[in-house]
Amino acid sequence: MAVLLDGKQVSAATREGIRTEVEVLAGEGIVPGLAVVLVGDDVGSQVYVRNKKRACDELGIRSWQYTLPETTGQAELLALIDRLNRDPQVHGILVQSPLPAHIDEALVTNFIRPEKDVDAFHPFNVGRIVLGDYAYLPCTPAGIMEILRSYRIDPAGKHCVVVGRSHIVGRPMSMLLLHANATVTICHSHTRDLGAITRQAEILVAAVGRERFITADMVRDGAVVIDVGMNRDASGKLCGDVDFDAVREKASYITPVPGGVGPMTITMLMKNTVTAAKILSGKQAETLDTSSMRW
Ligand code: GUN
Repeated sequence: MAVLLDGKQVSAATREGIRTEVEVLAGEGIVPGLAVVLVGDDVGSQVYVRNKKRACDELGIRSWQYTLPETTGQAELLALIDRLNRDPQVHGILVQSPLPAHIDEALVTNFIRPEKDVDAFHPFNVGRIVLGDYAYLPCTPAGIMEILRSYRIDPAGKHCVVVGRSHIVGRPMSMLLLHANATVTICHSHTRDLGAITRQAEILVAAVGRERFITADMVRDGAVVIDVGMNRDASGKLCGDVDFDAVREKASYITPVPGGVGPMTITMLMKNTVTAAKILSGKQAETLDTSSMRW
């Protein structure tokens, strides 16, 4: 039976460190500030945005929420971002995805000042992540690395299989694992004989967005299984991409849903907001402090 990887516990410990950093900055007259922009009324997004605000309040980070109607035009959204880009009190800008279909999401992402891009979605920050020289953490993958580190699960030399190639999770996850010296395979919807590859995984990351997609026969005995899924089943219950009850019998470690990866994502966003405040006030160079990132 697998050990549960407790994202809530790792998140609480990480937030203690962030709280201390916020207090130190407050002593210097700097209050980190995060602007969150939500367009439309996607129910899932509303929950995420509410949780982000709660995390900011808890840590002493200032936050602003802009809730715009579904019909908002692209020019109007860009005008708001332009204002936030210039506002010295705003250190981080997050535009909640998905955006309505009439808005070009890439254009919006590219318009955010890279120094304020706390999602690390801007091509400049993505490029730096690929090179391994980055200031802003890709939130979900960085949260997963923090969970692994906390349980002393070192990816070095291990075969890590990432299922999913999204810009938010799969791709940056593969890069962070590669930087940690893993051998990485990325699988996606065109992969042939997926099970034959996932069965080789010593660390398996499921970021597919399909309810109970990873079944026990696809998992190697003793694997570490990370479930990034946030799906609702037919009865409305939150469930991951992994068939948890069956897979936990085979895995050595597994993240539950909820209470695994989810809490870490917001914690990493808070960390990026503090980093942005330091960079924009000239207190930190635009590189990542890796001193706490070893196994
Ligand atoms: N939608 C789902 N996850 C995320 C995220 O991490 N950032 C943004 N901006 N939108 C999301």
